[in-house]
Amino acid sequence: MKRPIAAVIGTGRGIPLTVMTNHDFAAIGIETSHEWIVERSGIVERHIAQDGETTCSMAATAARAAMEKASVQAGQLDAIILSTATADRLLPSTAVDLQAELGASRAAAFDIGAACSGWLYAMTVAEGMIATGVAETILVVGSEKMSSIIDWKDRATCVLFGDGAGAVILQRAKTGKGILSSFMRSDGQLANLLYRPAGGAAIPMSAQVLEERTHLVKMAGREVFKHAVRSMSEAADRALDIARLTGADIDLMIPHQANVRIIEATAKHSSIPMDKVYVNVDRFGNTSSASIPIAIDEAMEKGVIREGSTVLMVAFGAGFTWASMIIRF
Ligand SMILES: CC(C)(COP(=O)(O)OP(=O)(O)OC[C@H]1O[C@@H](n2cnc3c(N)ncnc32)[C@H](O)[C@@H]1OP(=O)(O)O)[C@@H](O)C(=O)NCCC(=O)NCCS
Repeated sequence: MKRPIAAVIGTGRGIPLTVMTNHDFAAIGIETSHEWIVERSGIVERHIAQDGETTCSMAATAARAAMEKASVQAGQLDAIILSTATADRLLPSTAVDLQAELGASRAAAFDIGAACSGWLYAMTVAEGMIATGVAETILVVGSEKMSSIIDWKDRATCVLFGDGAGAVILQRAKTGKGILSSFMRSDGQLANLLYRPAGGAAIPMSAQVLEERTHLVKMAGREVFKHAVRSMSEAADRALDIARLTGADIDLMIPHQANVRIIEATAKHSSIPMDKVYVNVDRFGNTSSASIPIAIDEAMEKGVIREGSTVLMVAFGAGFTWASMIIRF
């Protein structure tokens, strides 16, 4: 096992106050039921950002909490890496808005786009920056306002997502704690199974795009489900192999929170019992790249992650992208 190069020294989350339950879909004309949503996804409720709550503002709340726990001032940050599929503006990055909001004047700030796997990608990039001496202290955030890109008329997708942000401070490791292994993969051949067809540079926003709603998320749910289970299982295996650990060495597994059935299948594959798997998809829905850092912060707060805990994280998302990481806390 390698000696950790980078360690998590603080965590935080930024969650909109407004909760939307499965029963609230009736009020917006969606033909669904609480039972259908729970049975297929495990989701009971999700938080939805209101006017004025942005990807940057949720990220800032998460970042401030993480910085406070880490006793790190904004001026000490060498970099801010923000993973998001819902940038507040397409230019510039949301990371620079966050930098301005925090007053982190010394930081290099940039966004990473790898959909739901984005935060693990961002962590791996951050670890590399610490390894090469480019940075010592990095804020790594996942922040998503999924409610701004889902089609609120498509019952097959709108019931699955939620908004929120999670953040950690990553710093050069001084002890045996920190990132033990990481793994990332992508397959762009499968991009059109989960995507926003229009609204970018190739097919810019137009009256037709708005009319046809092609700027919103389209998903082939069944196909995505199959790939998610296969890829997250592979990612879990690879992170364990690289760290020379087995499922028995893992104190807690934090999978991307998309769907409880995907989570159960992935845990089973790695022979990790469900009582060692962190699940909060019932309360948040799928918050894309924010889901793992939100779960880490909750697990720390509840004492589920303790000093010395070995935690396996696995994610899968649009692209497709998939990734994993093992951290000793
Ligand atoms: C989306 C998902 C929950 C749908 O479950 P499923 O068992 O595959 O269901 P299907 O898409 O085959 O649809 C079954 C039926 O339910 C209906 N349905 C879809 N959404 C519904 C809803 N919200 N409420 C009620 N019925 C719904 C469909 O119209 C379909 O009806 P039909 O058979 O009459 O055509 C499931 O495929 C899934 O979780 N996929 C992965 C999605 C995901 O996690 N994406 C993010 C990855 S990061």
